[in-house]
Amino acid sequence: MLDTVLATLAANQPAALDRLKDWLTIPSISTDPKYAPDCAKAAEWAAVQLRECGLAASVMPTGTKTAPGHPMVLASTAGDPGYRGPHVLFYGHYDVQPVDPLDLWESDPFVPVVRDARPGQPGGKRIVARGAVDDKGQVLTFIEALRAWKQVSGKAAGGVKLTVMLEGEEESGSVNLEPFVMANKAALAAADFCLISDTGMLGRGKPAITYGVRGLAYTEIVLHGANRDLHSGQWGGRSPNPITELTRVLAQLHDKKRRITIPGFYAKVLPLSKKERDNWKALKFNANKALKEIGFGPAADVGEAGFTALEREWGRPTAEINGIIGGYTGKGAKTVIPAHASAKVSFRLVANQDPAKITKAFFKWCKDRTPPGCRWEFIDHHGGFGVTCPIDSPHLAAAQRAIKRAAGKHPALIKTGGSIPVAGMLKDKLGIDTLFMGFGLDDDRVHSPNEKFELECFELGQRCHAVMIHELSTQK
Ligand code: BES
Ligand code: MN
Ligand code: MN
Repeated sequence: MLDTVLATLAANQPAALDRLKDWLTIPSISTDPKYAPDCAKAAEWAAVQLRECGLAASVMPTGTKTAPGHPMVLASTAGDPGYRGPHVLFYGHYDVQPVDPLDLWESDPFVPVVRDARPGQPGGKRIVARGAVDDKGQVLTFIEALRAWKQVSGKAAGGVKLTVMLEGEEESGSVNLEPFVMANKAALAAADFCLISDTGMLGRGKPAITYGVRGLAYTEIVLHGANRDLHSGQWGGRSPNPITELTRVLAQLHDKKRRITIPGFYAKVLPLSKKERDNWKALKFNANKALKEIGFGPAADVGEAGFTALEREWGRPTAEINGIIGGYTGKGAKTVIPAHASAKVSFRLVANQDPAKITKAFFKWCKDRTPPGCRWEFIDHHGGFGVTCPIDSPHLAAAQRAIKRAAGKHPALIKTGGSIPVAGMLKDKLGIDTLFMGFGLDDDRVHSPNEKFELECFELGQRCHAVMIHELSTQK
C-alpha cells in the first residue's frame, strides 16, 4: 500500500503546489489585529483540507469575549473504530510573521511565486511568499501525506490514530494556547506523542530529526527620565540621559567571557554531556561557512567562552537585545535629551530554566542598577519552556526509519536554537514528548523578506510523513 501512496503523492505534486499557493495568498499575520479576519480565513482553509482527508475538523475560538484570540483548528480521527497504532498529535501553525521591510521583497509576500534560484544561489525551484516554510508549507507536507493516504486506503490517516492542532498565534507569543490546551485536555492527552514540522534540516540533502528546542522569555524595559524632552545644551551634563543610562545598564548583561551576569541565571542549566558534545562534533558543522553566508568573516564566531557555535545555539542560554528605542531618529540633527528610552530584551533558555523566573530575575537585576533619578517600567511579553525529547523513544525510531526510507539517507539528530512554545506546554501540562521533523533550510529566510520553501523540501516532507504514517500503522 505504501508504494501506491508514494506514487499517488508524486502524481499529486502539481495540485499540492496549487493548494500551497492558495493558502499562502491569505495574509494571516497574527500580531496585527487588522489581519484577524485573514487569520480566521486561513484556519477555515485548513479545516476544509483536513475534512477532505477524512478527519472531523472544527475551527474553535480562543481567548475571551473582550479579548478574542485567533481560532484553533482541531481535527481528529479518534473515535473511528478499528484505528490503530500510537496516537499522534500533529501540531502546526497557520499564522505568519509581519512582512516588513516590504521594500526588500522581490515580489508581493502574499502573491506566491515559483521560481528558480538566482544565478550563483544554491538550490532548486522554490516558492517565495511569507509563510512558505514557516509554517504553512511544512504543515501542508503533512496534510498532503494525509490526502494521499485517504485516496489510497479510503481511511483518514490510513487508519492511524491522529489529532491535528493548528495554532494561529505561534508567531505572536501563543497567549491563548495554555487555556485552550487545558480546556481540551481530554482530547489532547489521548496522544502518545506530538509531531511538529516547523524546524529545519542539517543542510541541503541532509535530512534531520530535531530532538529539542530552546525556551524563550521576552521582555521590554522602559527607563523614564525627566517629565519632558530636554534641550541637550541646557540639560546635558546636569541630568541623566535615559538612552545613555539604559545602554550603560544593558552593557552589563554579559561579562568578559560573554556569560550572562544575572544572578542565578544558570542555576537550572544542565551541563552538556560529553556524549552530546561528541555527537554534535560528529555532525561536522562548518561554523565559518555559515558565518560567511551572512556576511561575516571567521572573527565573528563569538559567544559564551568555552563552547562551539553549535553548542551555543543548541545547548546554552543566551540574552539578546532585539530593539532599542528612544530619542530623535528622524532626518538631520536635533539636540535633545529624551524623556525615556526602552529596549526589547529576550532570553533563549535551555533545560529547566523557567521563563517566568528568568524574567523576574532580569527585572530585579535592572532595579538593582536603577540609574540615578530614573524610574523603570517593566513589561513581560511572553515565554515558553524549552524541551528535549528522549532520543531512545520508539516514536523517534519510527521517524528515523521513515526518513531513511523516504530520503534514502539516515537522518541527523539535531537541536535548534529557535522556540516553539507548544512543545514545553504539552510536556508540562500533559506529559507529552514532542518530536520535530522539519524540512527547512538555513537560507530559507525565515521571518525575513523573500522567505522561501524549496520544492524538493516540500516534496521530501510529504514523502517522509507518508512513510511515517505507514510506520505508525505497523506499530502496536
Ligand atoms: N518555526 C519557528 C521556530 C524555529 C525557527 C525553529 C528557526 C527552527 C529554526 C517558530 O515559528 C518561531 O519563529 N518561533 C519563535 C517563538 C516565539 C515568537 C514565541 C522564535 O523562535 O522566535
Ligand atoms: Mn514556525
Ligand atoms: Mn516563526
